[in-house]
Amino acid sequence: MKIYCGTDIIEIARIKKSIEELGDRFLKKIYTEKEIQYCESKKNQKYQHYAARFAAKEAVFKAISEKTPTIDWKSIEVENDKTGKPHIILHNKEFESIEISISHCKEFAVAYAVAIL
Ligand SMILES: CC(C)(COP(=O)(O)OP(=O)(O)OC[C@H]1O[C@@H](n2cnc3c(N)ncnc32)[C@H](O)[C@@H]1OP(=O)(O)O)[C@@H](O)C(=O)NCCC(=O)NCCS
Repeated sequence: MKIYCGTDIIEIARIKKSIEELGDRFLKKIYTEKEIQYCESKKNQKYQHYAARFAAKEAVFKAISEKTPTIDWKSIEVENDKTGKPHIILHNKEFESIEISISHCKEFAVAYAVAIL
């Protein structure tokens, strides 16, 4: 068993700007339908949640990039369980388990991923 890790931090304003300028073109390239539904349900805090998912995807990519050097954004999906805890669904790839932890405040979102192979 080998453990890989990855982390990412992002400014919420950067994601907000991309969404405002590129709209659906940006959203549909980066996020799955379920992720969009989740973030939109957060109303005026939605940019924090979009940014958190962006950071989560980057963190997972950093963790898995040695074994999976190319992957599209939507193949890494963040899903929250009933308690709010996030999980990664990695579509079409080989890792046994990927754990994620996310945090966000007004200005930044961070994520930390651990992948097990
Ligand atoms: C769940 C909790 C930790 C979230 O913390 P927060 O400071 O409100 O919010 P943060 O910005 O740091 O994190 C938000 C992210 O936490 C994650 N999260 C939510 N519930 C979670 C849970 N039960 N377990 C793990 N992660 C969780 C989510 O990914 C969420 O972001 P998302 O909605 O965009 O996916 C907090 O609401 C809570 O319940 N704290 C309990 C504290 C406690 O009992 N402490 C015991 C002593 S240490």
